[in-house]
Amino acid sequence: MAETRKTVERPAVNGKAYTFVDHKFDVVVVGAGGAGLRATLGMAEQGLKTACITKVFPTRSHTVAAQGGIAASLRNMGPDHWQWHLYDTVKGSDWLGDVDAMEYLAREAPAAVYELEHYGVPFSRTEDGRIYQRPFGGHMQNFGDGPPVQRTCAAADRTGHAILHTLYGQSVKNNAQFFIEYFALDLIMTDGVCTGVVAWNLDDGTIHRFSAKMVVLATGGYGRSYFSATSAHTCTGDGNGMAARAGLPLQDMEFVQFHPTGIYGAGCLITEGARGEGGYLVNSEGERFMERYAPSAKDLASRDVVSRCMTMEIREGRGVGRNKDHIYLHLDHLDPAVLHERLPGISESAKIFAGVDVTREPIPVLPTVHYNMGGVPTNYWGEVLNADADNPGRIQPGLMAVGEAGCASVHGANRLGSNSLIDLVVFGRAAAIRAGEVIDRETAVPDINEAACEKIMERFDRLRHANGSTPTAVLREKMQRAMQEDAAVFRTQETLEEGCRRISALWKELPDLKVYDRSMIWNSDLVETLELENLMASAITTVYGAEARKESRGAHAREDFSARDDVNWRKHTLAWVDEKGNVKLDYRPVHTETMLPVEQGGIDPAKIAPKARVY
Ligand code: FUM
Repeated sequence: MAETRKTVERPAVNGKAYTFVDHKFDVVVVGAGGAGLRATLGMAEQGLKTACITKVFPTRSHTVAAQGGIAASLRNMGPDHWQWHLYDTVKGSDWLGDVDAMEYLAREAPAAVYELEHYGVPFSRTEDGRIYQRPFGGHMQNFGDGPPVQRTCAAADRTGHAILHTLYGQSVKNNAQFFIEYFALDLIMTDGVCTGVVAWNLDDGTIHRFSAKMVVLATGGYGRSYFSATSAHTCTGDGNGMAARAGLPLQDMEFVQFHPTGIYGAGCLITEGARGEGGYLVNSEGERFMERYAPSAKDLASRDVVSRCMTMEIREGRGVGRNKDHIYLHLDHLDPAVLHERLPGISESAKIFAGVDVTREPIPVLPTVHYNMGGVPTNYWGEVLNADADNPGRIQPGLMAVGEAGCASVHGANRLGSNSLIDLVVFGRAAAIRAGEVIDRETAVPDINEAACEKIMERFDRLRHANGSTPTAVLREKMQRAMQEDAAVFRTQETLEEGCRRISALWKELPDLKVYDRSMIWNSDLVETLELENLMASAITTVYGAEARKESRGAHAREDFSARDDVNWRKHTLAWVDEKGNVKLDYRPVHTETMLPVEQGGIDPAKIAPKARVY
């Protein structure tokens, strides 16, 4: 492996020496969650020299927390069809998703799950040995007419955990090289092409400069820009921050998913699979209120719908608990054997985080930030789009984005439960296929762009030696509270303007940060400061995109513009933020064309034309 190590005296700030280690790879994947590992594996399997850089040990990536399962129309439990899956995904997205990407997802999903099975994922099994599948919200038979379909393939309630372990093992077996506990600082951009990435090795303090023919961002979401999230503390939108600093747009950031069942007070996830297995929500009057709002799908309506209904129940005084500020999820009517076999993890979480024995008592739950539909815009091959209104399909050479960091866009304005894991593997795999086609194996890996790296190190130095008066944790909490209060389940012009004002004011405080620890080894203060800058790029584009969008669609529910407006707003938001925190917005059209012709088994486009979204 080509690797050079040198010590560089840097004049900046305090003249301290940095050790640079330079590498050359065909592909560098940043992030080792489900999408990053599936991309890494696919690249390595083709013989591409592949590095995977990750700030946590791969099997601790946030995919490990994905519980309920992975959607694919396998038909193991009853009738299903990829066209039904496509229809549900289109409807779930509230007609904002790109149809080509959604069609690719639904058609490729079964093969991608069987591939996981063959790699070794220990799925739960039916009596006759096939992969077990459970119902999940918004997944229906017969183009939405129902009844609910059992489409979500599960490994008990630890599906993400099982997938991560399998993909990591396979990647190692295929000689991918892992750089574990390395923090990616920024993309190396050379004449408009991404030619690598610079990362900091947290363990020994060295700076690693990776040159590559292709960089893949697989850095996950930015749930931690909010105060209460099911996301791990590591979910800080690092890829979004890097893309924004490279002058690239972020897409559809205003669409933030609240999962209906975060544990009240703790925020940890109770899987939608709990409702899939027969659990139900009740208000303070003991009423199963979802029957009133969604007579057909009930507790298995789409997440944005259930989260809004819970919020309305609480607002109207029917919340439970001393402060009437949450809702109960009942599983106590289910057979304890089913809970033990199918939901062991959440039974344990309920005990630890809510002190509840699920066989006897309901779990206190509240809608909690869970997923970001927006991210770095890509086509369905994972190629990043340096898009604007005039060039909606312009590809950014040398850069891909997959998983929650990317926006293909398959989830549009709202993601269906269990469509996340399938997105990770389908598009991680697609990126690898595409990279295999576009990477020229004959040409040399580009040399290090010294000037670009120097700029990256100047920023690193500035933050490492930041000596203002605001501790990182203080500014971060202000940001999290502003997002929680002003970009919530329900939004108005007033709250969103206030959100823009607050986040812009906080951006101006960034130069006043104080970092207490200057060391290069395991400096969590500096890591959190780098993460805060990344979070702020996501937060500011979220509130500005939301303020501008004068309609309600999916997870973006405005009380002052309560209807979806397809004439004016069926379009993707593109948002740029500069160093000073100025946000620029533009829009690009939704892809509405299907790919497979009807005569070859494709879906009739009329079936997925926009209509009212009822469950
Ligand atoms: O509820 C859950 O198990 C989460 C799944 C998902 O977000 O897809």
